[in-house]
Amino acid sequence: MTTPIIVDCDPGVDDAIALLLAFGLDMPIAGVTTVAGNVPLSLTYPNARKICELANRSDVPVFAGCPRPLIKPLATAEDVHGVSGLQGADFPELPPAKNKQHSVDFLIQQLLSAPEPIRIAALGPLTNLAVALIQRPQIAENIEQLVIMGGAMGQGNITPAAEFNMYVDPHAAHVVLDAVLEAGIPTTLITLDITHQVLTTPKRLAQIKAIGNPVSTAAAGMLSFYGQSDVARYGLPGGPLHDPCVLAYLHSPHLFTTRPVAIAVETTGEHTIGQTVVDWHGGSESSTIHMAETVDADGFYSLLGQALASFS
Ligand code: BDR
Ligand code: CA
Repeated sequence: MTTPIIVDCDPGVDDAIALLLAFGLDMPIAGVTTVAGNVPLSLTYPNARKICELANRSDVPVFAGCPRPLIKPLATAEDVHGVSGLQGADFPELPPAKNKQHSVDFLIQQLLSAPEPIRIAALGPLTNLAVALIQRPQIAENIEQLVIMGGAMGQGNITPAAEFNMYVDPHAAHVVLDAVLEAGIPTTLITLDITHQVLTTPKRLAQIKAIGNPVSTAAAGMLSFYGQSDVARYGLPGGPLHDPCVLAYLHSPHLFTTRPVAIAVETTGEHTIGQTVVDWHGGSESSTIHMAETVDADGFYSLLGQALASFS
């Protein structure tokens, strides 16, 4: 549990809740790298800083990264996350940014120089990680574990075929999956098939609201709006908490089961670009790429409650 974690993200409400989960559980976050995704980089970067400030963790360095995908134009998800990316909560004015290092440079520098291997939680389009792996392929040797929120075995959520993170930058996903396979990095994908079971139902939202500290209140505010758009869109009883599943998996892997798979990301199809093509039966036991198969959603929400309650 002590191996440092870099969180690569595009806040976005569920990215924000993922960071709060990690801070509340005192996970060893070495840095937060941001990328364009749910909203443009000009918002994801300050949003990540706002969440660190909210959690009283301004000691955690936050970096701005790639402002657009490798090849495709940027597609955003303001309909889910609001124009600000953090709809539903108010944040105080940020102090001036302390560092100007690029996310990709931070990833490379950490992975080349850290005395111990690093875990990576990938919560957005995989652009930053792909660029880092292209620039310095040897960084793969120092990635102890990679956990990605992305992909779907069933229906996508931005097109019928594709999940958002994979759709936004399928070429980056292709680069990353190729690199981790070649380097044998233990990698787990948490797909929509799992996250659509981890729903912020009215009862769970009420439990979060009842915690009553400033952080949980901000989380509940964001989740109220986030939930509404997903309920309307999918007819689910609450919003799916995609990205926090990644941190929950790193903290409490027993809440999930996984299986080895073979996987490719579609990079060209007119109707299928960004689709994750998964051979559910094609991964050998020694395969280093796993996909989450089951989740204990109640266990997840009790972990989230524990994390949010830890703030004063
Ligand atoms: C993913 O897309 C984004 O909108 C969320 O933050 C999550 O990372 C879910 O498809
Ligand atoms: Ca995200």
